[in-house]
Amino acid sequence: MSRLSFAPGRVNLIGEHTDYTGGLAMPMAIGLGTTIRYTPEAGSRFVELVSSVEKEPARVDLALPASLTAIGRLSPSWARYVGGVVATLRPTEGGRGAVTSDVPIGAGLSSSASFELALALALGFGGDARSLARACQQAEHLAFGAPTGILDQMAGACAERGCAMQLDCHSLAVVQVPLPGDVEIAVVHSGLPRAVASTAYAERRSQCLAAEEVVGPLRLARLDDLSQLRDEVLARRARHVVTENERVRQFSDALLADDLSEAGRLMAESHASLRDDYEVSLPALDDLVGFLQETPGVYGARLTGAGFGGCAVALAAPGALAGALEGRTHWFVRPEDGARLLEEP
Ligand code: GLA
Repeated sequence: MSRLSFAPGRVNLIGEHTDYTGGLAMPMAIGLGTTIRYTPEAGSRFVELVSSVEKEPARVDLALPASLTAIGRLSPSWARYVGGVVATLRPTEGGRGAVTSDVPIGAGLSSSASFELALALALGFGGDARSLARACQQAEHLAFGAPTGILDQMAGACAERGCAMQLDCHSLAVVQVPLPGDVEIAVVHSGLPRAVASTAYAERRSQCLAAEEVVGPLRLARLDDLSQLRDEVLARRARHVVTENERVRQFSDALLADDLSEAGRLMAESHASLRDDYEVSLPALDDLVGFLQETPGVYGARLTGAGFGGCAVALAAPGALAGALEGRTHWFVRPEDGARLLEEP
């Protein structure tokens, strides 16, 4: 008997580079996602998958050691994600499955978290949504060693249709915030691919840790506290995190009050902070965000995801961006439900 699982990609509306210091973020799941049809096979020692977006199949031994070295040797490279999930969940029997996905890879829409979540469910993971997100974050770490936070996996696991979720990355508390109906969300590709396993991501994370050694947890810090930071770069990194957490709170309030102009203003501030203080933007992303912000009917826009390429997200009046995005790779998205089994044995 087979299982059919689905897990969505996500777009983060605001709250970027805050998750790994236990801060706040505001993601939503999107309609693009990964679907896996999987059939366990009694006596099999391998998880074997074919994929609509990968040329070669992935075949992973159930006894694969849970180490970066062992998983790093797997080939083709997408087998490392399979290895990460298998080594985290330790299923007791193997099987065969087929993967289809329409989440663009390297766009900052969490194609990898969507895959990990769908695979964990296909392999029979039975815990709650938070445990699913934690397991898939561990799988992601094992797969590529990038010290990513839990934003992507929590968004894909806990999202609810019609809502953006205010996510506290420390407690993993989620507040579902209904999105006003008269708004359109556009995700627009900058044309530059993004590699999350980049040294810059790990460097930002260690700069946050260095700042925390001086001022304590950034999620609890206030702007005044940051004057203790003598290192100018650390001070700017910390200022981004502290102000971004506050912007997430204000953004939630703005959505609840139906104040889309204020929500858009906060998105523009977030982008400026990511560009100037956190330095994770690129000229092509700044140009794209500038273009979006100047288009009549757009409330606000910002880079979304880790930065260094990938996509921008814009909040706009319905129809405002229809013509303007011609010739650019883009998606209009609505908030969708999180990962789930569509059929089970
Ligand atoms: C990537 C990581 C997330 C988060 C974002 C930046 O998407 O996977 O954990 O850190 O970057 O907000």
